Amino acid sequence: MIFESLKPQILQIVSSKENTVDERLLDICKLLEKNISYYNWVGFYFRNGNKEELILGPYVGAPTDHTVIPFGKGICGQVAVSNKNFVVPDVSAQDNYIACSITVKAEIVIPVFVDGKNMGQIDIDSNTPNPFTEADERFLEFVCENVATIL
Ligand code: SME
Repeated sequence: MIFESLKPQILQIVSSKENTVDERLLDICKLLEKNISYYNWVGFYFRNGNKEELILGPYVGAPTDHTVIPFGKGICGQVAVSNKNFVVPDVSAQDNYIACSITVKAEIVIPVFVDGKNMGQIDIDSNTPNPFTEADERFLEFVCENVATIL
């Protein structure tokens, strides 16, 4: 099972204190994009201090114009408000969606909680329709819980 084999590597990256937090977050993005075939854009967004907006952090994949996303806008902005996982099997069926690339078919966003507060999220775009299962959610929750320990 790919997720189980990636977990120790996530732990190793998170605890690599010789690297900055952003370097470690980028290493996580690279690990996921490289090893999971249907993860085609992997990035982190974080809340901008006390402002109700998200700022793009480390990511792997095509550059995006959406480096700032207001709370409530798009899938990411909705997760900033709902504090809940958002799995989108078909992005074309979403009204409140911010398109970054025409190749993207599906998206998953999982919040990162620090001391119970929603501080950001991991965002993954897939070029494959309906690729995500509960196993992705559980694995990405594991990733986010560990990322929370270094924020
Ligand atoms: N699709 C996202 C915007 C971010 S990009 O996927 C990188 C959204 O609707 O919030």
